[in-house]
Amino acid sequence: MGHAPLGVSTVTATHPSMGDIGPITPHTARATAHPNIALVKYWGKRNADLVLPATGSLSLTLDIYPTDTVVSPDPSLTSDIFTLNGEPVPGTPTQRVSAFLDLVRKRSVEQGSGQEKPELPHMYARVNSINSVPTGAGLASSASGFAALATAASKAYGLPGDPRSLSRLARRGSGSATRSILGNLVIWHPGDGDDEHADLTSYAESVPGPDLAMVICVVSGAQKAVSSRVAMADTIRTSPFFGGWVTSTQRDLVYMQQALAAGDYTRVGEITESNALRMHAAINGNRPPVRYLAPTSVAIFDAIAQLRNDGLEVYGTADAGPNVVALCQAKDLDATHAALHERFPDLELIPARAGSGAHLTPVGETSENEQNSAHEGQPAQAHDAANRQE
Ligand code: PMV
Repeated sequence: MGHAPLGVSTVTATHPSMGDIGPITPHTARATAHPNIALVKYWGKRNADLVLPATGSLSLTLDIYPTDTVVSPDPSLTSDIFTLNGEPVPGTPTQRVSAFLDLVRKRSVEQGSGQEKPELPHMYARVNSINSVPTGAGLASSASGFAALATAASKAYGLPGDPRSLSRLARRGSGSATRSILGNLVIWHPGDGDDEHADLTSYAESVPGPDLAMVICVVSGAQKAVSSRVAMADTIRTSPFFGGWVTSTQRDLVYMQQALAAGDYTRVGEITESNALRMHAAINGNRPPVRYLAPTSVAIFDAIAQLRNDGLEVYGTADAGPNVVALCQAKDLDATHAALHERFPDLELIPARAGSGAHLTPVGETSENEQNSAHEGQPAQAHDAANRQE
C-alpha cells in the first residue's frame, strides 16, 4: 500500500490507561462496547466467509467490562499495529484485526468515502484496545472487542455509523459481536435469500422486553481446549444433532420474541435454559466429542432449578465454556446473587444488568474503564480475556 503524507501535524498522546497510543491523527476515532450473553444461542455458520449464521439469535447486552478501542489511520505505517491492554499482540489476534481493517478499507473505497481524502483507505492503522475483563473471568472479549473495533474503524475510515451497517460489519469480525452494537435485548437476524442479499439482511436490532439481569458464575477462566470457532464448524460437520439444533432454535427464536413482547418472564427463562442445554447437547455430539460444561457447571444448573422450586425465578445458560450464567429479573438481581453466593461461596460471581450498545467516545474523554477503576480507588487494570475468546 502506498502512503501519501497527510500534510497535517499529529500529536503523540499518552492515554492514562492505554499508555502511549501513538500519534492522534486527523482520523483517530475511539469507541466503547460491552459483552453480551445470548438467550437464544448462535451456534453454526451457513457461510463462514460472510459469517452468516445457521439461525437467528437473541441476547442481552451487559453493563460490565467494556472494551475501549482507539483506531488511528496513519500514513507513516507500513502495517497495522494492534496493542491489547498496552501490549503488542503478535500472531492471530493481530491478523484478525488486520483482516477486519482490510474489509473496512475495501468498503471505504467501494463507498467512495475516500474520494475527499483519497489516501485514507490506503492507510494502515494503529489499534489500541483496552479490555477490562478480569483475568480468569472466562468472559468473551470477541463480542465487545469487534463491536468496539467496527464502531471506531467505521468512523476513522468514513463508513456509515448507523446500527444496521455497524452490526453487519461487526458480524464479520465475530458473530456474537453483531449483537453488542446495540444495548439491552438484541436480535441478530439470520438474513435471507442468496448470499449477497443475506449479507445485507443479516444484522442486529433492538427488541423490547422485560427488565432482565444476570449473574455470571465463574467456574473456570482457563483457555478452553477447543475454540468455539473450531467446535462450531465440527458440530456442523460431525454432530448428528445439528439438524435438530437448527430447527428447534428457529422455533425458540419465534417463541422468545413472543414471550419478550408479552413480558412473560417465565417463558423467557424456560426457553433460555432449554436452548442453552440443547446447544451443549449438539456440541457433545461432535466427533471427537467436545464437552464444555464441567461438574461444577452442572451443579450450578441443579442449584438454579432448586432456587426455582424455592420460589426465586432463576434460569441458567452457558456459552462455549464451563461458566454458567444465571438469568433473573432485574428486581431479583441482589437476591439471586446472594442465593448463589450462599450455595457456592468459593465461586467468583459477577452481577450484571442490561448495558448500552457500542458508541463513539471523544478521543480525550475518560473511559468507562477509567471511571470504574477510579471508583474502586485503584489504578486502571486491564487483563486478557481468557476463556470464550476464539
Ligand atoms: O461470536 P463467536 O464466534 O465467538 O460465537 C459465540 C457463540 C456462543 O457464545 C457460544 C453463543 C452466542 O450466541 O453468543
